[in-house]
Amino acid sequence: MRVCVVGSGGREGCLALVLSRSGHEVVVTPGNPGIPGSVPTPVEDIIADLYVIGPEVPLVHGLADRLRAAGRLVFGPGADGAQLEGSKAWMKELVTTAGVPTARYGRFDEVGPALDFLGTLPGHYVVKTDGLAAGKGVLVTTDLAEAEADVRDKLAGTSFGDAGRTVVIEEGMTGPEVSVFAICDGQRAVVLDPAQDFKRVADDDEGPNTGGMGAYAPLPWLPEGFVDDIQSRFIEPTLAELRRRGIDYRGVLYAGLMLTPEGLKLVEYNIRFGDPDSQVVLLRLTSDLGELLASAAAGQLVGEPTYDGAAAVLVVAAAEGYPATPRAGDVIEGLADAAAVPGATVLCAGVAADDEGRLVTAGGRVLDVVGTGPDIGAARVCAYEALARIAWPGRHHRTDIAREVTS
Ligand code: AMP
Ligand code: GLY
Repeated sequence: MRVCVVGSGGREGCLALVLSRSGHEVVVTPGNPGIPGSVPTPVEDIIADLYVIGPEVPLVHGLADRLRAAGRLVFGPGADGAQLEGSKAWMKELVTTAGVPTARYGRFDEVGPALDFLGTLPGHYVVKTDGLAAGKGVLVTTDLAEAEADVRDKLAGTSFGDAGRTVVIEEGMTGPEVSVFAICDGQRAVVLDPAQDFKRVADDDEGPNTGGMGAYAPLPWLPEGFVDDIQSRFIEPTLAELRRRGIDYRGVLYAGLMLTPEGLKLVEYNIRFGDPDSQVVLLRLTSDLGELLASAAAGQLVGEPTYDGAAAVLVVAAAEGYPATPRAGDVIEGLADAAAVPGATVLCAGVAADDEGRLVTAGGRVLDVVGTGPDIGAARVCAYEALARIAWPGRHHRTDIAREVTS
């Protein structure tokens, strides 16, 4: 099969690698100079048997609809289903109607009622932009004054522009987070092996939120029956409610979940594979990812995913200044040495080529360094050994990815 992957980051590099491992011919648009098969050709001009759309922004803007209207086979929801990520207020209303467990919330366009609602919450406040904000539109705090100021800034449009003119305010939850990717064909879903993502920039979950600084899978500490529970209490009711609204959802339903003291709750849905959390799941697949995604895109899901039994640990190597102001143009050294570590894979995420053809930093999250091994401890050693061989000025990373499960 010829597969066209849309996007340019570590997730798309991983999708391309895993698809080509199963014998598919892969073209990535626009990709980046570190992803084999990257072309600058617009997606509409690429002929392929299957289109896999990586990031949320083109999905929210209807790329899947436009390609389907041209008769193409597409893995990714249309703009209707993409509202699950494009509007947090829409998502919360839908999941609440569907009976999915999630934090109590309110949706507000005006300061007065928003501040009144904040006052009813028991000391742990979450303020979110309704619209897309590249993972940065969420404030979690125990400081009421900080939450109030954030509400004012968001609603005034000063902090996040129009994305913040509606806010969702939620009761804060606590507990470990789990990422679950359900491959949906509109009617049914297959849930992939869960992963954990590390969102804060610094060790011990300090510092600001990022798109994700690392991930690992599998999760040995999950309760028995976890995946079945997710399927029956979260994914199936959500797909049923989408169908009730006339939405034929074909793509990834990415559930961000929290294991709270009151039980499992949904933090959010995304409409795409997580980045970098899906990489530690997809790289371990032994079944054919292309067949799985093509069957979902065709509305006839077939195939149970199988895994190689290994563990995977991914550490993001970030540019100087990430997440606030990542510096571009630093020359990346040591890529080949890192990839030579047995079990290691290096995925290029935020990279470009300079005039001399060298790879340079061109984004916040520059590389995903993935280690695999028979268990998480071995995978972790592999990832950090590979990472140690890579250098550029100001590079930084977390040193505690998957540390807790191995100590
Ligand atoms: P979201 O973009 O909705 O995933 O939020 C980003 C991050 O903020 C999540 O991964 C959580 O770590 C945190 N978060 C979001 N909602 C809540 C909540 N209701 N309680 C506690 N933390 C939350
Ligand atoms: N790693 C979090 C996300 O992809 O949204």
